[in-house]
Amino acid sequence: MSEDAFSALRAAAVKEGIPTVRGETLRLLLAEIAARMPQKILEIGTAVGVSGAAMLRAAEGAKLVTIEKNAAFAARARENFRALGLEKRVTLFEGDADEIVPELSGSYDFILLDGPKGKYFSYLPDLKALLKVGGALFADDVSLKFYGLKHTERRNRTARVNMARFVAAVKGDADFSVRVFEEEDGALVAEKIR
Ligand SMILES: C[S@@+](CC[C@H](N)C(=O)[O-])C[C@H]1O[C@@H](n2cnc3c(N)ncnc32)[C@H](O)[C@@H]1O
Repeated sequence: MSEDAFSALRAAAVKEGIPTVRGETLRLLLAEIAARMPQKILEIGTAVGVSGAAMLRAAEGAKLVTIEKNAAFAARARENFRALGLEKRVTLFEGDADEIVPELSGSYDFILLDGPKGKYFSYLPDLKALLKVGGALFADDVSLKFYGLKHTERRNRTARVNMARFVAAVKGDADFSVRVFEEEDGALVAEKIR
């Protein structure tokens, strides 16, 4: 996959307002991938495949399992992975991560958590079990400022409370070594150390 093809995919998604990891966070994500060279990657929240393609591009030979609930996004992601020649390296589960994550088995070297923000806390035990010792969980959008004080709807308040619980749970877990980045919407990298 060429740099141009990937840049075009990302630019099209951004132009259409499709959610995708922001620039500085993408750099952080790819720095983690380059440092770790994971071979088995799990992603919650495919959207149209931008972050998935970026990770596969950076980690030669890696395989990606990725989950997306929105049918139109999933279809587009499949098309994009095919166009980039990545389809053989990707297993895309179309459906609700609430149902799919508990059914996953095996172990992963790297997990990108970028799905529903109110669900990070409830996914954590399963994701921890799926992560190899020495592997890393990268969670995007963990900054509480991301939810903004103007968001007073119950859904947003709940997501904010659940995100705070997620961050506290990861930081308080002695099995993880955690780094938090404040850039953009905030990201957290938790390495499973035992
Ligand atoms: C921030 S976007 C993902 C962006 C993508 N990782 C990227 O950087 O290109 C979050 C995605 O999670 C999906 N999503 C939301 N709730 C979900 C759920 N319960 N199960 C699976 N996917 C979900 C949304 O449809 C959306 O495409």
